[in-house]
Amino acid sequence: MSILSESPSSHEIGRFHLEHLLQVGLTDDDGADVIFGLTQKQKTLPSRYFYDDKGSELFEEICTLPEYYPTRTETAILGKHAPEIAQLTGVCQLVELGSGSSTKTRLLLDAYEAEGYPLVYLPIDVSAGILKESARDLLTDYPQLQVRGLVSTYQLALKSLGESSLPGRMIFFLGSTLGNFTPQECDGFFAQVTAALEPGEHFLLGIDLQKPKDILEAAYNDSQGVTAAFNLNMLTHLNWRFGGNFDLNLFQHRAFYNESEGQMEMHLISEVSHSVRLNALELTVEFAAGETIRTEISRKFNLQQIQ
Ligand code: AVI
Repeated sequence: MSILSESPSSHEIGRFHLEHLLQVGLTDDDGADVIFGLTQKQKTLPSRYFYDDKGSELFEEICTLPEYYPTRTETAILGKHAPEIAQLTGVCQLVELGSGSSTKTRLLLDAYEAEGYPLVYLPIDVSAGILKESARDLLTDYPQLQVRGLVSTYQLALKSLGESSLPGRMIFFLGSTLGNFTPQECDGFFAQVTAALEPGEHFLLGIDLQKPKDILEAAYNDSQGVTAAFNLNMLTHLNWRFGGNFDLNLFQHRAFYNESEGQMEMHLISEVSHSVRLNALELTVEFAAGETIRTEISRKFNLQQIQ
């Protein structure tokens, strides 16, 4: 019997249960955010559109690049402190927002396993492909592990968690993904996390601190062009999702540190004046030569801000 199987809305075999919150109409995924962003003076697109299956794969590749320091740095910190974290929280359900390949999760699972705690893991990701793949590997490597994967946005998943099956819960949000939220979005996010936790439960947050511009800019302009491919893939995603005709040859990747805002910004620059049609949204967008779409902010924090 295979550990994983598939059905349109959910499946559960033994230790693995997968729920597709995005496919059962629980979200209004109607592209209103795309229309809004592409009709602003500074065109923007929500960074969530990076993460189709291809985009999630490219992001995993970014995490292994020599220039992209955040992943290996956070892994080292977590490796050092995971045993202390497990002792601090005691037995608890582990809920990971934006779990991706769950690589860093293993450090926590090892620490909880070493304490003899039951292992219950709820990975949340918009990519079903990556959720299933990483669950398969984890279930093989941790025979006591129970996985309930949610194919979902954070917002939707946080509302749908229900009661923890263990005496406690720790929600964790690593990789400085918080930096991809505007300050207002951060406020909304923290309110949702708070609502999903009972008093005395835990939240573990990984953030990237401010550092010299050359280190930051190299991390988002890698020499192998993986970040550029990741950025451009958003247009491919919009093409299939909304019947678009973005021509990837007419756009280029650009990333720079906006010092006054304390944030890295990724843009796609239109090289020529042209128009793009998104049929499913009944939207035509005009681009001037040199005009950009801002596809991501990645805020870099100081400890005072975080406190
Ligand atoms: C997911 N997020 C924290 C990454 C970041 O660094 O802001 C996304 C990314 N964009 C370009 N490289 C990585």
